[in-house]
Amino acid sequence: QAPHVAIVGATGAVGVEILSCLETRNFPVGSLKLLASARSAGKQVAFRGEMLTVEELTEKSFDGVDIALFSAGGGISLKFAPIAAAAGCVVIDNSSAFRQDPDVPLVVPEINPEAALNHPRNIIANPNCTTIITLMALFPLHQRFGLKTVIASSYQAVSGSGQHGIAELESQVRAVVDGHPVVKNVYPHQIAFNLLPQIDSFTESGYTKEELKMLNEGRKILSLPDLKVTCTCVRVPVYRSHSISVTAQFEQPVDVETARRAYDGKPGVAVMDNPSEGVWPTPLDSTNGDTCYVGRMRMDMAIDNALTLWVVGDQVRKGAALNAVQIAELLVGR
Ligand code: A2P
Repeated sequence: QAPHVAIVGATGAVGVEILSCLETRNFPVGSLKLLASARSAGKQVAFRGEMLTVEELTEKSFDGVDIALFSAGGGISLKFAPIAAAAGCVVIDNSSAFRQDPDVPLVVPEINPEAALNHPRNIIANPNCTTIITLMALFPLHQRFGLKTVIASSYQAVSGSGQHGIAELESQVRAVVDGHPVVKNVYPHQIAFNLLPQIDSFTESGYTKEELKMLNEGRKILSLPDLKVTCTCVRVPVYRSHSISVTAQFEQPVDVETARRAYDGKPGVAVMDNPSEGVWPTPLDSTNGDTCYVGRMRMDMAIDNALTLWVVGDQVRKGAALNAVQIAELLVGR
């Protein structure tokens, strides 16, 4: 029997995309409940040719729901995911609230699908978007060569901050071009025509929380507790799709040809790498698509036994909504 599904944060950047993934992937849906704040209650949204009404999220929202996809921020997840889980619903949570809980699996279906089936708290965590896209590029290489160390810089789109991030970039670009004062609501500095080397808050280490997610989540997903990761995460004035420049050091000897072949037949990731013909992936190439693209692959000149590469992926899709729907597919045995 098709599961009863709820989307928490159905009106947000990720929620809207979850709805689209459920529709286009023909996910079996017994019933679908769209949940958001009181501000959106009553709003009409189309799904498979039917109009659904957005409801306000309450403690009673999960009665009779089998799978709930949460994407309304960490505070909402912390409060409502345990309530949903207690009602017998399996929660797939996009926030970072439960990712490091040892009883909560952290899943990228192309990498550790088996982990999704063991969820003692009835909660499964969807990893950080930049971590997912980086690991989509690194996992085939890890399988072939054994990953040891990762040195990365990310170039993250404003849609990672939700609808407000998109609106802020758009309004600031207009303001700058028209010669009007720039208004800042979402980011601490102007994002239009600028780069901001801070995503999420700073920790005592000097790294931001976003940068530490790459370390801690990478270790958990790959089951590599000793993996070394250093990362600088940067917000860039791009609407959608994150890009990551990665240098990865391996246990086994590496070469570019074998590395390229490691992606043959791997789902969700493709090589787009022919520099002499001007072929390398940009964020626009992955936008609104399901595939992460890898290019600029070369032997690293500074680090022994290492490859340097560039990967792009649509962080709203593979980095969030699509990955969550793929986890739901694992739950229903697809
Ligand atoms: P709403 O549209 O009613 O504010 P984004 O990441 O694009 O900013 O979206 C956040 C999502 O989380 C939206 O769907 C938003 O609903 C939802 N949300 C925010 N606050 C709450 C809340 N207190 N209760 C339920 N949903 C919320």
